[in-house]
Amino acid sequence: MYAQMIKSEASREDPEKLAAFQARIDAGDKIEPKDWMPLGYRKTLIRQIGQHAHSEIVGQLPEGNWITRAPTLERKAILLAKVQDEAGHGLYLYCAAETLGVTRDELTEMLLDGRMKYSSIFNYPTLTWADMGAVGWLVDGAAIMNQVPLQRTSFGPYSRAMIRICKEESFHQRQGYDIMMKMAAGTPAQKKMAQDALNRFWYPSLMMFGPSDKESVHSEQSMAWKIKMNTNDELRQKFVDQTVPQAHYLGLTVPDEHLKLDEETGHYAFSQPDWSEFFDVLKGNGPCNRERLAARNKAWDDGKWVRDGLLAHADKKAARKVAAE
Ligand code: 3HC
Repeated sequence: MYAQMIKSEASREDPEKLAAFQARIDAGDKIEPKDWMPLGYRKTLIRQIGQHAHSEIVGQLPEGNWITRAPTLERKAILLAKVQDEAGHGLYLYCAAETLGVTRDELTEMLLDGRMKYSSIFNYPTLTWADMGAVGWLVDGAAIMNQVPLQRTSFGPYSRAMIRICKEESFHQRQGYDIMMKMAAGTPAQKKMAQDALNRFWYPSLMMFGPSDKESVHSEQSMAWKIKMNTNDELRQKFVDQTVPQAHYLGLTVPDEHLKLDEETGHYAFSQPDWSEFFDVLKGNGPCNRERLAARNKAWDDGKWVRDGLLAHADKKAARKVAAE
């Protein structure tokens, strides 16, 4: 439906402008907010950047949950810094989306009433301290795999936001792997916790890249516009190839009996996640969807007095300025 809508919108655009726009994309130009762009390009970016921003914000919840329970002061400080980074990433991305003519309030309202998505991964619970390791290692690892190519995306503000975000994400991935190394080399009970975290986060991490290329609605057009640089399956494969040796180094077992290295291609054959589970999570039926949206709605409602106060102050200041002129 959406891809069709974007196509039919494209057919209403001025063909000369469309061709010139595509030529700029093909030549590797960055598109800036005041440049002409097709409506479909603008809408696709608002959808993708908005969903990405929401993921950063909702993504604070499963980890924020562990700040008070981190095992040492050092781990607490690191986790606190990581969760704050995610808030910052959300802000860079909301700012990038705002340059396309949507406000942050509008985006937030669309998240809160379910019109916009956030990453499926954050609808899974974090049950033990080892989950902080698995989230950093696998979830941030998958996020980086997807986001490094996005540094070259065609929309200038998005590309620049991604450059800053990727620098911090690689620290996040390493702190996660560091937790996993400690747990995997710890007592048998700690190693068991690390294995259990890997077992629970493996398939949801594979889902982060989106449905298979056959099922992906937006990939073709998004890649032509360089809003996406790779297909979902390409990135998923790269993630598996990179992550399996890391699991072996930890002495842990990837929960996939069909995992097999093809010596010739250097790629692993692997089992697909349960896609019916993925689509169910997208519909709002994951283990934590309701809890996550309830937490974001509460934060929005609790912060209303601050927003009202700031806006009233800004209105008063503007009125004084007008009166003085
Ligand atoms: N979770 C939720 N929804 C997903 C999804 C996922 N993991 N993967 C795909 N979808 C949705 C799409 O949004 C689309 O729904 P819509 O039409 O209602 O918007 C539908 O499933 C079909 O998927 P497509 O492959 O056609 O969608 P895209 O072309 O948008 O590809 C994507 C999906 C690869 C996630 C792409 O949007 C993308 O690269 N986004 C930017 C990166 C991003 O959003 N990352 C979030 C990860 S978490 C994070 O960054 C936090 C970090 O701190 C860990």
